[in-house]
Amino acid sequence: MRSLIKHVLRRSEPTDDLHVAGWVRSRRDSKAFSFLELNDGTCLANLQIIADSGIPGSEDLAKMNTGASVEIHGKLVESPAKGQQWEMHATTIKLLGGVPEDYPLQKKGHSAEFLRSIAHLRPRTNLYGAVFRMRSRMSFAIHRFFQERDFVNVHTPVITASDCEGAGEMFRVTTLPDDKAARVAEDFFGKRAFLTVSGQLEGETFACALSNIYTFGPTFRAENSHTTRHASEFWMIEPEMAFCDLAGDMDLAEELVKFLVTEALEHSEGDLSIFERFVDKSLRQRLEFVASRPFERISYTDAVELLVKSGEKFDYPVEYGSNLQSEHERWLTEKHFKSPVTVFNYPKEIKPFYMRLNDDDKTVTAMDVLVPGIGEIVGGSQREERLDVLMRNFAKHNLNPEAYSWYADLRKFGSVPHAGFGLGFERMLMFVTGMANIRDVIPFARTPGNCEF
Ligand code: 4AD
Ligand code: MG
Repeated sequence: MRSLIKHVLRRSEPTDDLHVAGWVRSRRDSKAFSFLELNDGTCLANLQIIADSGIPGSEDLAKMNTGASVEIHGKLVESPAKGQQWEMHATTIKLLGGVPEDYPLQKKGHSAEFLRSIAHLRPRTNLYGAVFRMRSRMSFAIHRFFQERDFVNVHTPVITASDCEGAGEMFRVTTLPDDKAARVAEDFFGKRAFLTVSGQLEGETFACALSNIYTFGPTFRAENSHTTRHASEFWMIEPEMAFCDLAGDMDLAEELVKFLVTEALEHSEGDLSIFERFVDKSLRQRLEFVASRPFERISYTDAVELLVKSGEKFDYPVEYGSNLQSEHERWLTEKHFKSPVTVFNYPKEIKPFYMRLNDDDKTVTAMDVLVPGIGEIVGGSQREERLDVLMRNFAKHNLNPEAYSWYADLRKFGSVPHAGFGLGFERMLMFVTGMANIRDVIPFARTPGNCEF
């Protein structure tokens, strides 16, 4: 059976019977033999192969150029060379797929922009292989975090008729013909339908039955943001807890972020080293710092006061009642606190209908977790559990209460205080890898104007 190079490199003993396969990273020829660096994507490191000229298959050695796929049988022996424990001596070598000269990954050091244009090949590079292995490990860690804490995983719908965030940034789902005469009532679902911006509303219904739940799936936003932190399709982790208030919500968000940072540090399987080398030299230091200290907490009102008094020149003015811009968030985390910060109790006017109104009648129990280098990574709140207040919110936000009658029912029948949040999966990945652009942590990114592959 074929061994994965990841396992081969961790062996404690040599073996005479090894079978591996992968893609050639480089080849050097001498008179009597060739050296091949082989990578199969299971780990960052390559396996060094020594193939004597004359072994079965060696007639194709000249075609085993960078990018070619090969299959090799042979022996694993202690390597006399520095920097590696093992090398493989091939007994047979087989060319599976050759590479013409126009293979785009010949040279090292391509730009991120170029690699995005060949997103089908970029996972074959060291850096992107490491990014997408990290993505997989983080995904697994998220399920582990919640399953170990008795949260039930709920699969909320991708197609929905409700706009959770009320921002109107929804992609329409329709089977209507292009001609304008077609009527909504004749559409597939008999009404307007969209790709979901959040699983929260449906998640709340399950929290109000099963206590603690989480969703983890794709969400979609048709916002025309051309930033390094916004994608049109991204994944979100959305826990929702019954019998929970804002403080419990902030505690869980902090615990989750720290858990994932610790996972990235302790189970990176060597991949962190490439992020440190090529992306961010201080990555490990920053992650260790974040994992080891409590996050700062500050109310929106106090945060605005700090920003106003800072004397800093911002592109956007800071004043009570306006949204914090990313430059403000970054000032708080990077310059002032030098730490992640949870900002809570935002003015009700700038937040969606579902957030619980505070007794001051001015603010709602919103909370955002901000981290250095990125800004907002988590957005959440305690939910409005009082039916009368919720009905008033529908009116204020121009929402049709009939469309949300099922959501209001949760407040009519056995209503409970409850709270939850959304953690942007890609923003979390940017944080633990140091990658500066969200498009570089998504296998095939969708952004305004870009839907290749
Ligand atoms: O703050 P948001 O919009 O909150 C919600 O959607 C709530 N319904 C979540 C909840 O309470 N259950 O989004 C949550 C997080 C943000 O903090 C951010 O990390 C990420 O989702 N996010 C995006 N990530 C990538 N691209 C975008 N366009 C994003 N918009 C939000
Ligand atoms: Mg938000």
